Amino acid sequence: TSNAMWGGRFSAGPDAIMEAINASIDFDKRLARQDIEGSRAHAAMLAAQGIITDKDAEAIREGLLTVLSEIEAGDFQFSKALEDIHMNVEARLKEIIGEPAGRLHTARSRNDQVAVDFRLWVRDQCDAVDGALEALMKALIGQAEAAADWVMPGFTHLQTAQPVTWGHHMLAYVEMLNRDRSRFADARKRMNESPLGGAALAGTGFNIDRHMTAEALGFDRPSANSLDSTSDRDFALEFLAAASICAMHLSRFAEELVIWSSAQFRFVVMSDQWSTGSSIMPQKKNPDAAELIRAKIGRIFGANVALMTVMKGLPLTYSKDMQEDKEQVFDAADNLMLSLAAMTGMVETMAPQRENLRKSAASGFSTATDLADWLVRELGMPFRDAHHVTGALVAMAEGKGCDLPDLTIEDMKSVHDNINEGVFDVLTVEASVMSRQSYGGTSPVQVKKQIARWKELLA
Ligand code: ARG
Repeated sequence: TSNAMWGGRFSAGPDAIMEAINASIDFDKRLARQDIEGSRAHAAMLAAQGIITDKDAEAIREGLLTVLSEIEAGDFQFSKALEDIHMNVEARLKEIIGEPAGRLHTARSRNDQVAVDFRLWVRDQCDAVDGALEALMKALIGQAEAAADWVMPGFTHLQTAQPVTWGHHMLAYVEMLNRDRSRFADARKRMNESPLGGAALAGTGFNIDRHMTAEALGFDRPSANSLDSTSDRDFALEFLAAASICAMHLSRFAEELVIWSSAQFRFVVMSDQWSTGSSIMPQKKNPDAAELIRAKIGRIFGANVALMTVMKGLPLTYSKDMQEDKEQVFDAADNLMLSLAAMTGMVETMAPQRENLRKSAASGFSTATDLADWLVRELGMPFRDAHHVTGALVAMAEGKGCDLPDLTIEDMKSVHDNINEGVFDVLTVEASVMSRQSYGGTSPVQVKKQIARWKELLA
């Protein structure tokens, strides 16, 4: 049998495999609510412009609400033969209200319809991600506040660098996640133009009011070029790009949690709720959630690359290639939301280990820079010379198998005669972090200021 929508021109129905490759209903049914919202706005506008009667518009409105409630209740028969969500909804509307259903698609095409639906969906996701990011930021700030001045090692190259504070480390991620938020907000702003009324590609001869539908759907304005707005998917790409960067941040933090929760580091203890055991090794407590979050960047960035590759080289305007946009974005959005929720749960429940953090911070000659700075400040040495003297002291401590504060004053003087007892004041990890008072530095005073700033911003 030929198609109910375009059967006029066709005498045969599609091959089964044609249907399998062509139908998108299995995934685009997630656009049902947006599709119905868009159709309601369109029908109301058609009536306001006298293009359809108020009576028909009312029937369409009521019918669409019935369709929506059927879909939301889970008793809607989706049909592959009807290809996609747009035609499934319209066909069901026809069954419910009859003839007026056929007037809904006046001055519209599936090309502007899907562009509207998908924009609305991605816009909602920007809002959802924003809320999830805020929750994670609050969890991190909670951790920062609970142990703001606990000392831990700061690394470069994953080698001991200088002592830092736990609060400072937590807030580093707050900064990153806040930039992620602003990237989503920015993308949301740019995508918030209504393509509805672009019709197939060229606009329409009917006297429609695109400002009315734009406003009804919460868009800032109608798009200014129908060719552009029925065929661009850069809004989805911006979402995926922001999601990729955000997932990259989560992946880095996840990696740190994996390292920190190992028996060799023991910087944090993850809660049982967010860990798994081993079927053979009874002692195991594995950070699987962190590992999975670390991995999610693979599919999220993969989606970004996939859609970018789909879109490159497509001539204007719509091509069916663009149907491949949705699964990528759905999958990336779902996995980003899941990662954010899991990370929030882990952060809320993890317990930093003060003694282990401190002990680790004090190892590896972490206050060598403080020693060199002392030589500059107290003895007036050029920094390059101070670096050299300190290096010799580190080598001496290494030879003796001790840390810098364990060297005697005689040891110190044997390398440089002018060194005095005062030097020991700067060799503790507490003194080290306390001294780093520069704006944005790791000193507890600075960190507490930043915590206060964030709490105010997120209040
Ligand atoms: N299912 C299609 C998609 O997702 C809807 C638009 C179809 N338009 C068309 N002219 N075939 O892209």
